[in-house]
Amino acid sequence: MNILILGGGGREHALAWAIRQNPKCDRLIVAPGNAGIAGVAECAALDILSRASVLEFAQENAIDFVIIGPEAPLAAGVSDALRDAGFLVFGPSQAAAQLEASKTFTKEICDACGAPTAAWARFTAAAPARDHVTAQGAPIVIKADGLAAGKGVTVAETVQQAHAAIDAIFDGEFGEMSVVVEEFMAGEEASFFILSDGTDCLPIGTAQDHKRVGDGDTGPNTGGMGAYSPAPVLTPALQDQVMARIVRPTIAEMARKGMPFQGVLYAGLMIRDGQARLVEYNVRFGDPECQVLMMRLGGQALDLLLACAEGRLAEVPVTWADDHALTVVMAAQGYPGPYVKGTPIKGLDALPETSFQMTFHAGTDTQDGVVVATGGRVLACTGRGATLAEAHQRAYQLVEAIDWPQGFCRRDIGWRAL
Ligand code: AMP
Ligand code: GLY
Repeated sequence: MNILILGGGGREHALAWAIRQNPKCDRLIVAPGNAGIAGVAECAALDILSRASVLEFAQENAIDFVIIGPEAPLAAGVSDALRDAGFLVFGPSQAAAQLEASKTFTKEICDACGAPTAAWARFTAAAPARDHVTAQGAPIVIKADGLAAGKGVTVAETVQQAHAAIDAIFDGEFGEMSVVVEEFMAGEEASFFILSDGTDCLPIGTAQDHKRVGDGDTGPNTGGMGAYSPAPVLTPALQDQVMARIVRPTIAEMARKGMPFQGVLYAGLMIRDGQARLVEYNVRFGDPECQVLMMRLGGQALDLLLACAEGRLAEVPVTWADDHALTVVMAAQGYPGPYVKGTPIKGLDALPETSFQMTFHAGTDTQDGVVVATGGRVLACTGRGATLAEAHQRAYQLVEAIDWPQGFCRRDIGWRAL
């Protein structure tokens, strides 16, 4: 089978690494890919946001299955274009991708199906939003309603901060926007990943992310500085609760609305006193959560994604080893602000590449035979073991072996569970 993965980050490296292990995979192309992905797949330059370019590429290369990694091509309707042309695709339609692209859409779905989430109100002008915040008090959460690359959310500690966030949104920082004002939810956050073929659902794992850049969860938010799986806070009982109250009702409501959700639903949850509420949905694998999930699933990932795309999820089992995985993101100094680019990374060739230790590339390229950092988040050093402590030790062992003076990482990934 010829498989095309769209994307070029750590998530796509992990997907490619797992899928390559499955004997059903003959040819594997990742577009655009990166220096690490080039070790497990062919990389192809391609505008993955262009429906026409992706379609033409898939036709020319006799692709049997397309896996869409990031949210942007989903929001751009690339999955619809491929499906309309008869391709088998993993990833939701443009309409179903609104579960990530639009906060209002998701809130309306939650209301319609009774899924527990924060109380909310939507405003299209600053003055009534400010008045609402003044009436509610702080802490309170302000969200720009649209894809803002995770940067459109302010958890305001004071009314003043909330007002400033509202003004920034309406002053055009994110383009044409409305604002969603949400009740602040306290608790512990965890992520839950569920495959859905539009009808049936299959949970494939839990993880915990580390969004802040600094040790002890300090400093600005990032796309994620590390993750581990499983997340102990999401006990089997709590997973059942989330499936029954949040995930299955959402999938049923999406089908009822004529926009069945097919792909991976990433539920961001807030857990307190044995009760889970939805923070947000994403319609793709998390990055770096995907790295720990793929490390644990291995080659069966392809069978699961295929069953999802073919509407056969009711038939497939997931085989879980009783294991743990942990990933540490190495980022370029300065990230998430302006960071240095093009610095060489040494020591990568000597690293072990096994089912217990893998260094996934997120933002790398090869220049004159040398691997250089091209992005903010650059590597995801990932370990797997029988315990979280073992996975942690194996991940940091990779970090230590990498010679990259312009890089940094958090030293405390996994602290909550260790
Ligand atoms: P989102 O982009 O909606 O995931 O929000 C980003 C982050 O903001 C989440 O991961 C939470 O840490 C935080 N957050 C969002 N909404 C809330 C809320 N209603 N209460 C508390 N924290 C929130
Ligand atoms: N790690 C968070 C995300 O992928 O959105």
